[in-house]
Amino acid sequence: ASQSQPYRTGFHFQPTKNWMNDPNGLMFYKGYYHLFYQWNPYAAVWGNITWGHAVSTDMLNWRILQLALVPDQWYDLYGCWSGSATIIGPDKPVLLYTGWSNVSFSRDNQVQMQAMAVPENSSDPLLEKWRKIEENPILVAPTDINSTKFRDPTEAWIASDGKWRMLIGAKRKNRGLALLYKSSDFVHWEQAKHPLHSVPRTGMWECPDLYPILVAGKNGIETSANGHGVMHVLKVSLDDTKHDYYTVGTYVSDTDSFLPANAALDAGIGLQYDYGKFYASKTFYDSGKGRRILIGWVNESSSSENDIGKGWSSLQGFPRQVWLDGDTKNSLLQWPIEEIESLRRKSVSLSNVPLKAGSLVEVRGVEGTQLDVEVEFDLPRMDLAEALNVDASNVQVTCSNLGASRHGALGPFGLLVLASDDHVEQTALFFYIVASEHGWKALVCSDQSRSSLARDLDKTSYGSYVSISQRETSLRLRVLVDHSIVESFAQGGKVCITSRVYPTKAINNKAHLYLFNNGTASVQVRNLLAWEMASAKID
Ligand code: FRU
Repeated sequence: ASQSQPYRTGFHFQPTKNWMNDPNGLMFYKGYYHLFYQWNPYAAVWGNITWGHAVSTDMLNWRILQLALVPDQWYDLYGCWSGSATIIGPDKPVLLYTGWSNVSFSRDNQVQMQAMAVPENSSDPLLEKWRKIEENPILVAPTDINSTKFRDPTEAWIASDGKWRMLIGAKRKNRGLALLYKSSDFVHWEQAKHPLHSVPRTGMWECPDLYPILVAGKNGIETSANGHGVMHVLKVSLDDTKHDYYTVGTYVSDTDSFLPANAALDAGIGLQYDYGKFYASKTFYDSGKGRRILIGWVNESSSSENDIGKGWSSLQGFPRQVWLDGDTKNSLLQWPIEEIESLRRKSVSLSNVPLKAGSLVEVRGVEGTQLDVEVEFDLPRMDLAEALNVDASNVQVTCSNLGASRHGALGPFGLLVLASDDHVEQTALFFYIVASEHGWKALVCSDQSRSSLARDLDKTSYGSYVSISQRETSLRLRVLVDHSIVESFAQGGKVCITSRVYPTKAINNKAHLYLFNNGTASVQVRNLLAWEMASAKID
């Protein structure tokens, strides 16, 4: 970030210029994390898609290498679209991706095909050069699938019969599909009799992801692992809503089927990784630290004219570790990877701060646009909670209607970040506790409506909720602030919300941090810890 580029970030991955979308081919190989990404070398808008490539040893500092894949073959002439990496043996990383081309044999002259690339030199830990194999394209769409709805191969895994499996996102009528393919040599693929999974009325499934997760603990597990103590997560990116939905369930390798643990939370209709901006995400197993990492694409909330003006568009969300929530066994917890803590600098710590009705308390001692903030509130007098029925599908609307400035009973209370000293600009992250039919719930809201004096921005509020069990004594919120991105993690990572904001006054060192309570009941801050964050390096 600089005076002329106040929205560039300090510790989020972004190329030096132009348009970026999905993360691709994530892997940990010979000591390096590899991030590939959909990138337009020519403009700050989508088009001419190539695979950009960056490597890192800590997922904080990145080194951008030469492009890994560019459109230069008949089957990918219009773009090298999303795909994944699989390490198929010692020293054998492989990329699968979707080629987008115009070929006369197709009904509509536009086709998505699957292709494969291998490293020129797999003993180079940076894997700088990639070669597309001669057998490409390795797959074209089956006859009952529209060839423009057939893309985004997953990382492959080995099933109980010893053969490879992988998924491709598709749709038939309005049913979202994860088509399943099998192979013994990784080059010749055969379609399985049934898709691994499908859900009616969810539309095109982009960028599917299937991975195992341990029933207990925070550790991750290698992608082919299955058996006792292992469940699976299926994630799909819905083209229609532009959100990433996941469902926890069982992958039965013998029958090649996926059974959601709770049908009401099935893929595309249930839980979201993030209730703000976060799309086309992917996970990978980090064999270095034994954890599973999730990275998602975070696009802009400004117009493409703005993007062209500033010369770039989109960020990758800060990498998160994911594991099963032991409280529910059917949802995930997500938390920024621990490496981020090495960027923490000047800090402030507060405890037992009462927040009376209507209070606004500046947190002094940290300032600026790069912060990591953790706050914990004692649960207030719960008998004062207003009665309000919320279900997962209406929380965003409820959050927008409430807004941070409403005077409710138990809330809204929380944090104002990227706030100007006159408070005209502020991004509010708040809780709002209600009594619903199924017990107490805390709405978790991200209110961007006053985030910037500039117009021509999407300032929609985002929200979700956490259920408050009898055992609970506090509400917790962690917020990462980095110039134009705000990532919130509520109740230890049960609910995550990412937003993009473009303050005009609260930039550089003119951004302030506040605690607030606009509810009529008092709340108490048990603890607050906030750090100014150093910048990471992108070369
Ligand atoms: C998701 C997506 C993918 C596609 C890629 C093209 O954002 O539409 O389905 O492969 O982006 O850039």
